[in-house]
Amino acid sequence: MRTTMTFLLSWCSSLVAAILVLRICPVRAQLADQQAMAVLHDALSVPDWGPRDSDYCSWRGVTCGGPNGTVEVLLLPHRGLSGNISPISELRSLKKLDLCANSFHGLLPPFFGKLTELEYLDMSMNKLSGPIPLSLGALRSLRSLNLSNNLLSGEIPGEFGNLGGLQELHISGNNLSGFIPRWVGDLPYLRVFSAYENNLEGRIPENLGSVSQLLQVLNLHSNRLTGPIPESIFAGGRLEVLVLTLNELEGSLPPSIGNCSGLSNLRIGNNRLAGAIPATIGDIQSLTYFEADNNNFSGEIIPEFSRCSNLTLLNLASNRFTGDVPAELGALKNLQEFIASGNSLTGGVPRPLLQCRSLSKLDLNGNRLSGSLPDDLCNTSRLQFLLLGDNSITGEIPREIGDCVKLLELQLGGNHLTGNVPPEIGSLRNLQIALNLSFNQLEGPLPKEMGRLDKLVSLDISDNRLTGRIPPELIGMLSLIDVDFSNNQFTGQIPIFAPFQKSPLSSFSGNEGLCGDPSNLSCDISAGSGAAAAHRKVSSKMALAVIGSGLTAFTMVTLVVLLFMLRERQEMAAAIAAGDVKKVPPAAAAAAATGVFVEHLKQAVDLDCVVRATMKDENKLGGGAFSTVYRAVMPSGLTLAVKRLKSVDGTVARHRNRMIRELERFSSLAQPNLLRPIGFVIHEDVALLLHHHTPEGTLAQLLYGRAGGEFLPDWPRRLRIAAGAAEGLAYLHQASIVHLDISSCNIFLDADHNALLGEIEISKLLDPSKGTASISAVAGSFGYIPPEYAYTMQVTAAGNVYSYGVVLLEMLTSRAPVEESLGEGMDLVKWVRSAAERGEMPEQIMDPRLSAVSFAWRRQMLAVLRVAMLCTDPTPATRPRMKAVVQMVLQAQKDSTP
Ligand SMILES: *[C@@H]1O[C@H](CO)[C@@H](O)[C@H](O)[C@H]1NC(C)=O
Ligand SMILES: *[C@@H]1O[C@H](CO)[C@@H](O)[C@H](O)[C@H]1NC(C)=O
Ligand SMILES: *[C@@H]1O[C@H](CO)[C@@H](O)[C@H](O)[C@H]1NC(C)=O
Ligand SMILES: *[C@@H]1O[C@H](CO)[C@@H](O)[C@H](O)[C@H]1NC(C)=O
Ligand SMILES: *[C@@H]1O[C@H](CO)[C@@H](O)[C@H](O)[C@H]1NC(C)=O
Ligand SMILES: *[C@@H]1O[C@H](CO)[C@@H](O)[C@H](O)[C@H]1NC(C)=O
Ligand SMILES: *[C@@H]1O[C@H](CO)[C@@H](O)[C@H](O)[C@H]1NC(C)=O
Ligand SMILES: *[C@@H]1O[C@H](CO)[C@@H](O)[C@H](O)[C@H]1NC(C)=O
Ligand SMILES: *[C@@H]1O[C@H](CO)[C@@H](O)[C@H](O)[C@H]1NC(C)=O
Repeated sequence: MRTTMTFLLSWCSSLVAAILVLRICPVRAQLADQQAMAVLHDALSVPDWGPRDSDYCSWRGVTCGGPNGTVEVLLLPHRGLSGNISPISELRSLKKLDLCANSFHGLLPPFFGKLTELEYLDMSMNKLSGPIPLSLGALRSLRSLNLSNNLLSGEIPGEFGNLGGLQELHISGNNLSGFIPRWVGDLPYLRVFSAYENNLEGRIPENLGSVSQLLQVLNLHSNRLTGPIPESIFAGGRLEVLVLTLNELEGSLPPSIGNCSGLSNLRIGNNRLAGAIPATIGDIQSLTYFEADNNNFSGEIIPEFSRCSNLTLLNLASNRFTGDVPAELGALKNLQEFIASGNSLTGGVPRPLLQCRSLSKLDLNGNRLSGSLPDDLCNTSRLQFLLLGDNSITGEIPREIGDCVKLLELQLGGNHLTGNVPPEIGSLRNLQIALNLSFNQLEGPLPKEMGRLDKLVSLDISDNRLTGRIPPELIGMLSLIDVDFSNNQFTGQIPIFAPFQKSPLSSFSGNEGLCGDPSNLSCDISAGSGAAAAHRKVSSKMALAVIGSGLTAFTMVTLVVLLFMLRERQEMAAAIAAGDVKKVPPAAAAAAATGVFVEHLKQAVDLDCVVRATMKDENKLGGGAFSTVYRAVMPSGLTLAVKRLKSVDGTVARHRNRMIRELERFSSLAQPNLLRPIGFVIHEDVALLLHHHTPEGTLAQLLYGRAGGEFLPDWPRRLRIAAGAAEGLAYLHQASIVHLDISSCNIFLDADHNALLGEIEISKLLDPSKGTASISAVAGSFGYIPPEYAYTMQVTAAGNVYSYGVVLLEMLTSRAPVEESLGEGMDLVKWVRSAAERGEMPEQIMDPRLSAVSFAWRRQMLAVLRVAMLCTDPTPATRPRMKAVVQMVLQAQKDSTP
């Protein structure tokens, strides 16, 4: 052996041999890679890789490089893969390895340390456990390391060797403990360090950022870090995102933060930070989100905030701020939310702030504001939340309150308001979340106009001096869940109205003169004395109590309250529909899970707004068998389609985590004809899926939508849609995803009239094979259901082909799959397939307004008709596969030469 080696070496030193080496060594490297890839092929069984012995360089996700054809890039993200990945260690030329979002488990393989050429390693979103192996420290070419969202534990290795080139380090969402080691701060090129949601403790290294000077993103939220925010992180002046929420940090916010003029996102809430906010904040021109709630900051709110013209959110709640709200803040044109509840602010209701034309939320609950409510409260603003509870506001509620037509929530409880409740309150037709006038000195009767607040969920007018009868008109408040009329001087009968009778006694107590259910005084004319069920009072406060911080979405708290109401309302509706007034909704409230998959949309999506949109019927765009779709316009101007899943038997609540994983996978499917999810909100049994809005509507609308409108001879467009939908479906089938509801209503059109197949995620979210939904719920839409479903009870790829065939027939005939004009007991498929028996020619089936336009169109239509006939064959096994269907449709498209 040794002799051969020596021999080889000496041999190689000659010139002639050098040429041979150039030929031989490559072949050897290639052999090693070939072998490794063959083993990997067996180990992972990647669905769309070619045969084991085919050229691995052509397999999907594999890129070979160099003259010797070695594997340099291996990208297999979001493929549901598991198995042994150790063969990868033989791919010595590997530069980029992405296996994120699969199901690899067990220890993180130490052999990765052998891949010394590796520049990019992404193993995030798997189930890897155990410690981070020290051997990774040998990856001297590594620039980006992503191990986030696994189950890694133990400490971050104290010394990590040769990682000097590292630019991005992501280890968030694990269970790592111990300190952040100093070497992280010594990395000269570090730009992104993300270690949030771990168990890290100790101080943030004092050198972090000082060596690199390139630090742009530092995200360490939800750990147990202590000590101060080190000034070093501001030294480079490049910081763009700083998130330190939910730690135990102390000390003050260093003034040098003002050097980071590109900082847009600053979140340091839920720590123990103290001192004044430095005036240098005003130098941060890009500041968009400033969140410092639940700390121990003090001093006045600095007027310098007004220089941050892009400021959208300013959250200073639960600190020890004093003084007046500076008038300068009125200049903040982009300010949407000003939250400063739970401080000791004084002065009047800040009128200048009300002039911020984007302001939608003003939260000054729990301060020491005095003076009266300005009567130009809502001249200019788009205020949706006006929260001024628990202050010392005096005077009357101005009649101009009626101008606040956008309000969703009005909190004025716990002040010193006097006079009557003005009838104009009935103009606040959008009030949904709460109207709270409790603990004031309001008097006189309640205006009957209040009954017009038909969306309001919570009404609290307790502890005032209101008199007279409870106006019977209040039965117009159809959405009420939570009412409190207690401790006033109301008299007479409590109106017969389910939300009232379902309320606890205490909602009406302390009113000597009230009678009827649910008070314990019966009226003379006893009406409907049926025992009102003890309605467990589910207050939104419970939801609030469970939520620790609003980090994921900056308005998480309102989000959860909204979701809570949404669920309540659904259950109320269901209970009322079922005549079951006693039904008590489950009281548990947990945090919502939310996510936005598309990085550049993260800030444009306002989840509050998403939830609110689903509460209004006028936003309804339509619905399929499994969901209702709403239109939601974000404050950023972005329009989304929000799909509310119809949960069957608590599916959403029970399979939440799996659903989130599936959604992530679907979000990354790379095929242009699929309408992929871009985000989600899941709370208890409510699941909202976010998609891009498709203003061009659906194929069904294109085919049948323009009632009375002009008919457009648009065969080429239809054919292009047919091809796109086929390609999308074929892609799904290749990824082993069966669609549950192929129909022309689920084929959406983008601005260029390309087909986008919708409802693609439903099968995995409500997968019948996993027992999460019953077959009766997933059979698809009427007219598209293949005949075999009647006895197989199984949704299959072949069944999809049938439904697709029906869609083709719709395009050819301009007829709906079930239509009375087809005749008794006929659906479109039967009608077309029995044409020959009736002695009809194809021309008599196809829409003559299209087929008569040109010979080319007619020929194409005949070709597509043949495809449709194959697809709708009664025998599933005889139908072509989608891949073949794509070919046939594309072929038909090409057949346009005369
Ligand atoms: C690939 O070939 C180049 C020269 O063509 C050589 O320098 C390199 O070492 C080879 N790579 C491997 C991994 O053998
Ligand atoms: C992992 O981090 C890299 C940057 O290092 C990033 O490009 C990639 O998107 C991350 N992966 C996931 C799944 O977030
Ligand atoms: C995380 O690690 C700690 C020890 O550091 C352990 O007690 C805990 O059970 C782990 N949590 C999970 C979810 O693995
Ligand atoms: C950073 O900010 C501090 C305090 O605001 C200031 O003294 C210092 O000169 C600034 N450094 C740079 C490089 O601008
Ligand atoms: C403010 O926001 C706009 C829009 O996002 C952006 O174009 C602009 O650069 C920002 N201004 C500053 C000073 O960052
Ligand atoms: C906040 O600061 C005050 C003194 O400035 C101190 O008495 C108090 O304990 C601090 N609170 C917390 C929670 O650290
Ligand atoms: C509201 O409108 C009135 C009259 O139109 C005007 O006098 C007042 O200044 C306005 N208030 C605000 C805050 O714009
Ligand atoms: C109404 O406001 C008062 C005072 O802020 C508060 O105590 C009460 O809990 C609020 N009512 C509801 C239903 O939230
Ligand atoms: C209901 O009855 C109890 C005594 O049984 C009494 O203390 C209470 O004041 C009554 N409540 C009302 C609303 O009349």
